[in-house]
Amino acid sequence: MTDQLGTIESHPLQHADGTESYPPSAAFREQANLNDPSVYWRAAEDPEGYWADQAQNLAWTKPFTEILDWTNPPFAKWFADGELNVAENCLDRHVAAGLGDRVAIHFEGEPGDTRTITYAELTHEVKRAANMLTSLGVAQGDRVAIYMPMIPETVIAMLAVARLGAAHSVVFGGFSAESLRARIDDAGAELVITADGGYRKGRVSALKPTVDDALALHGGGSTVEKVLVVQRGENEITMTPGRDLWWHDEITAYDGEHTPQGFPAENPLFILYTSGTTGNPKGILHTSGGYLTQVSTTHRNVFDLKPETDVYWCTADIGWITGHSYVVYGPLANGATQVIYEGTPETPDWGRWWSIIQKYGVSIFYTAPTAIRACMKMGRQIPEQYDLSSVRLLGSVGEPINPEAWRWYREVIGAGAAPIVDTWWQTETGALMISPLPGLTSLKPGSAQAALPGIDVNVVNEQGERVNPGQGGLLTIRRPWPSMVRTIWGDDQRFIDTYWSKFGDQYFAGDGARVDEDGDIWLLGRVDDVMNVSGHRLSTAEIESALVEHHAVAESAVVGADDETTGQAVVAFVILKSQQTILTPEDAEAALKKHVAGQIGAIARPRSIYVVNELPKTRSGKIMRRLLKDLAEGREVGDTTTLADTMVMSTIQAKVAGGK
Ligand code: PRX
Repeated sequence: MTDQLGTIESHPLQHADGTESYPPSAAFREQANLNDPSVYWRAAEDPEGYWADQAQNLAWTKPFTEILDWTNPPFAKWFADGELNVAENCLDRHVAAGLGDRVAIHFEGEPGDTRTITYAELTHEVKRAANMLTSLGVAQGDRVAIYMPMIPETVIAMLAVARLGAAHSVVFGGFSAESLRARIDDAGAELVITADGGYRKGRVSALKPTVDDALALHGGGSTVEKVLVVQRGENEITMTPGRDLWWHDEITAYDGEHTPQGFPAENPLFILYTSGTTGNPKGILHTSGGYLTQVSTTHRNVFDLKPETDVYWCTADIGWITGHSYVVYGPLANGATQVIYEGTPETPDWGRWWSIIQKYGVSIFYTAPTAIRACMKMGRQIPEQYDLSSVRLLGSVGEPINPEAWRWYREVIGAGAAPIVDTWWQTETGALMISPLPGLTSLKPGSAQAALPGIDVNVVNEQGERVNPGQGGLLTIRRPWPSMVRTIWGDDQRFIDTYWSKFGDQYFAGDGARVDEDGDIWLLGRVDDVMNVSGHRLSTAEIESALVEHHAVAESAVVGADDETTGQAVVAFVILKSQQTILTPEDAEAALKKHVAGQIGAIARPRSIYVVNELPKTRSGKIMRRLLKDLAEGREVGDTTTLADTMVMSTIQAKVAGGK
């Protein structure tokens, strides 16, 4: 098909410098939500006005008169004198607008069970849950921990908490009892909502026992008074009388009458923990009005959402920021119809995702490069068995998407025509920040391209000055944005130190980036000790401290090594205590992998662990991880002249080459 630009949809434009770009087809551009490029300069001229206009798409119980309060940087307030109820915005107002019969969630359980939930039904369930939580004592300002599988009750629980003006802290179901407990303690949660278990890889993966273990740690005393348990896996669990309650027993006492109350725009909506450069995870705090404004605006514009006709599917787990912003709040605020799938892509086989797209007629599909690469490995003959013709837009998130995976994604999943939006953002930014706009941008595989309207992203040198086109530097954000992190829960100083101390007036994202001659941005990965494994953030320090907590380990060094499928993989080097008799060097690898998974969660399990006698250190005793990374990635080891003992690397190298 030839469009007005004279380009054939499936063929890119070739540029003199060897790069390629894919302009939107005339047909796509024509129908796109945003197809007038002036949106960029209009927003740049008056960013606050732009965001205030976007905020008008929400229902406010008390209209705001202030837009941004930046009088006490870096603590921003957006729309501070306005009031709204986040859950009402995601539910009741759609029902009031006559959209109650629209499907909100097509739920697909891993074993094949399904549920279709309309906006009217979801609203009803959230109202009942809000009544139930009220009677359990949940009120504005409280924190509720949620440790759940990917099932509709997770969404219902989050919205019920939000409806009451309380804050949720969702902890990904793959985290260990230790990690869960640390998050419960840090937030001071009084209620935990969990499930007996959920389905993963064809079997029930238990959750409630981990909650029991978490609450039994440190002598048993915790802030938690009640545990509410959803029945899903039907696995055997123990209920502690007086503390544990079944959701399905409790809920029967409550009806669906519940009037939403407006809360201030800066009322905390949730805390979500993410890895930083030091051992303790950071509780990223997001608030209500600005957050909902930016997630809904970006969801509508970047995914070109047509809520009447699109079927949207984001594969992220709700335990991560992508699940919060682009499974729960963005899509529901926009009245979208979406798919929620409980399980893994390979269950019962690698056709599962594509069969779901075919079954529900998914038109917008949002996933991570690591998943795309895993599907590529399995071969195109699998997706080719399914009718994917409903797909009209594809999204990518979590790490840079390599051009090869980009082309495969577009060709095999997007019929060679679907625009791909490569979206850069973070737990801290709350919503998309850098991304193509599918009706406007000529796409470049591998580049997230440009800051979204109203966002001021820069690539700067160490002095904080913008670099010239063609150069690399550090990614910063200059002006506050509505969905930005407000602080680190309970630690304002860490918030300042982590993000604002480097450049003062610019938010330091921790990512390296390059700007090309057209001004497009190419993300280059983290510049700090944070690893990105399958799009999940892990800190080297957190895994190192888990390793040295093992009685046999004296010292450890962890690096993120390039990995074909997961982007990066955890590789650890450990020194065993000389006197210890717990582990032999032969069983150390398996035992320590298990230990890390038990301490943090399976996502942190190292790909390899090497037992060594020494670690490469500078004369001042600093571990030179750069050299270990060279080894782990099979490269020639870089400059070793600053090492205290230059021989160390050859001994370690011999170990690595020997397999152990
Ligand atoms: O390094 C960037 C990478 O993921 C980090 C944020 O991780 P997290 O807070 O867990 O949120 C992930 C989902 C939003 C960033 O600092 N990252 C995320 N998206 C991209 C990316 N790197 C390159 N391209 C992306 N599209």
